[in-house]
Amino acid sequence: MTVQKTFLSILILALSTQMQAQKDNLPIYLDETKDIELRIENALSRMTLSEKIAMTHAQSKFSSPGVPRLGIPEFWTTDGPHGIRPEVLWDEWDQAGWTNDSCVAFPALTCLAATWNPEISYLYGKSIGEEARYRKKDILLGPGVNIYRTPLNGRNFEYMGEDPYLSSKMVVPYVKGVQSNGVAACVKHFALNNQEVKRHNTNVIIDDRTLYEIYLPAFKAAVIEGGAWSIMGAYNLYKNQHLCHNEYILNNILKSEWGFDGVVVSDWGGVHDTKEAITNGLDMEFGSWTNGLSKGTKSAYDNYYLAYPYLQMIKKGEAGTKELDEKVKRILRLSFRTTMNSKRPYGSLCSQAHFNAAKQIGEEGIVLLQNKDNTLPIDLSTNKKIAVIGENAIKMMTVGGGSSSLKVKYEISPLDGIVKRAGNNAEIVFARGYVGDPTGEYNGVKSGQNLKDDRSSEELISEAVNAAKDADYVIFIGGLNKSNNQDCEDSDRKGIELPYTQNEVINALAKANKNLVVVNISGNAVTMPWIKDTKAILQAWYLGSEAGNAIASVLFGDVNPSGKLPFTFPASLEEVGAHKLGEYLGIERNDGSNIIDEKYNEGLFVGYRWADKEKTSPLFPFGYGLSYTTFKYGKASADKKSITQDETIKITIPVTNSGSVKGAEVVQLYISDLKSSLPRPVKELKGFKKVYLNPDETKEVVFEITKNELSFFDDKKHDWIAEPGKFEILIGASSADIKSKVSFDLK
Ligand code: BGC
Repeated sequence: MTVQKTFLSILILALSTQMQAQKDNLPIYLDETKDIELRIENALSRMTLSEKIAMTHAQSKFSSPGVPRLGIPEFWTTDGPHGIRPEVLWDEWDQAGWTNDSCVAFPALTCLAATWNPEISYLYGKSIGEEARYRKKDILLGPGVNIYRTPLNGRNFEYMGEDPYLSSKMVVPYVKGVQSNGVAACVKHFALNNQEVKRHNTNVIIDDRTLYEIYLPAFKAAVIEGGAWSIMGAYNLYKNQHLCHNEYILNNILKSEWGFDGVVVSDWGGVHDTKEAITNGLDMEFGSWTNGLSKGTKSAYDNYYLAYPYLQMIKKGEAGTKELDEKVKRILRLSFRTTMNSKRPYGSLCSQAHFNAAKQIGEEGIVLLQNKDNTLPIDLSTNKKIAVIGENAIKMMTVGGGSSSLKVKYEISPLDGIVKRAGNNAEIVFARGYVGDPTGEYNGVKSGQNLKDDRSSEELISEAVNAAKDADYVIFIGGLNKSNNQDCEDSDRKGIELPYTQNEVINALAKANKNLVVVNISGNAVTMPWIKDTKAILQAWYLGSEAGNAIASVLFGDVNPSGKLPFTFPASLEEVGAHKLGEYLGIERNDGSNIIDEKYNEGLFVGYRWADKEKTSPLFPFGYGLSYTTFKYGKASADKKSITQDETIKITIPVTNSGSVKGAEVVQLYISDLKSSLPRPVKELKGFKKVYLNPDETKEVVFEITKNELSFFDDKKHDWIAEPGKFEILIGASSADIKSKVSFDLK
């Protein structure tokens, strides 16, 4: 026994000594106990010039090389931002044809923003990060936080709305959640990419104040508070330079002012010049004209701006290696944070937890826009006949829309969700109502649906009206879709109205049946000329895999809606600053350069800031959303009458659930600077809290305001200034429904 024990101890000692020796022999860059910066320097010192150059550009559509000789792995990127894109061929956009790359589609980021719930944003980030990790992706190309400037922008559905404060608060947890998996978030598209039309040659002209106050805050929050490890440049230009190699935005603001220590990734095909790419802040080039091998001298990838042309410039002495080392250091830092972090978790794919998360996010993001006579929720306790009308009740929405298109394990359509939830308690009939876009394919992923229907619009409407006539409820499910000129990358919408013949169908249904509910599926505002003739309206976004289940939960009252609009629904395009002041789509230069100058003439006055200034009456204001219960706001109070620049003021307001079901209210805090040396918006969102209340329950909602929330960006001083004077705090249920005010002085 003792002999055995001694032998065992000797063996353990020998093994651990050997392990220690192995560890001691580890080169510094592989030793995870060492400081990352030391490891970076060590790896860099071992690399050849060509190895360094290779690291700065892609080797395939979505990957870049590591340093094989040193055992530093490749990077694999993936879209983003709503699910993990299916595998494509090495050098083509076509499908690789894998059978293990289906994912969970999470709701679009507009829906996430509509939850006004930062905790749910963390859940989103963590879950999608797990899917990315399981699929062996190291950089997730998302989230997107470009500001909603016009309802025509085809990519608004991928972003977080019109307000810099809301999008800042929502992006941070998403980034943290993704990166908790050892997967980098790549926040995009930095910056000023607010439309799709002519996105490669539009030069945005904007004043510094608007840039800093409206278009940069969400990126800044993602970098500074979220600690984002990578960021993606935008396609367009600013100060006559493409944003993927823009000295002002990338070097001066991102890297100097904000101290970003991560990697700037180009948008795919967003690089145009080697010299600028070397000096103006870009670290990694992706997606430049990769049409197979036909264009390159050796391979297309060798001809990237940051490949052979870069090497040649260094060899000829036209460029030094200082910038190259700087880029490679950042890329190595990213390796140590992701691919070379042996402690990162393994992730998971299509787990029940992810489908549950997708459903929960969808349920919390759906916005109840109208509910006359408490038409919703639909009570199934007595048997009902429900007519479901509209293409979006059956159309798969996870395929299409551009780079965010997905191949999903499953997608529950609204009709399927309704049928399943209603069970035997209702008779459900369906009619198409209109034919929008029957196609369903993106990059070779097919929805598999045959939505072809050659009937005339008269026939379709008459069928729908017949189905609706004797129903207890009619639920019209329409809106936009993911086809060109709808909610889709690379094109903008042609107008703000609902497309196809939907308005006619809805008008006909309203005449046939009073109990009409409209479910609008879109990532953008639409006009609703029939609003007075409908009982209830839901804004339901693109909800991903669990779409139908989430919609059914809200329609039948399993979930009490608590979403609020992350952008204004204007009554017309005339009510949008970017359109009213006439610069949307800009003016082409007549110097043969093909560049279009677009002035953001509306300045700070985007969304509700414009509505407040111009006193317009939007169809639905920013921050708006109803519930199946009602909330009573008490009187707001402040703990001080005045504060100094270093003090915090505490604002408290009691909110009560005055209805009969439990629900959640998003209490919003806006600040109004009553007197200021520079013009300021009437009010600006500077706080919000989502409170969950049982019937009759009251909670005190508390906000803390510091000079950060009171400041504006003074472009002459190039600094944030909180000007002494009187401020008013407005607490409301939306930007247009202020319940209580309290004022104080800033000294
Ligand atoms: C899009 C990016 C996307 C990239 C890769 C580009 O066209 O603008 O958002 O991540 O393609 O698919």
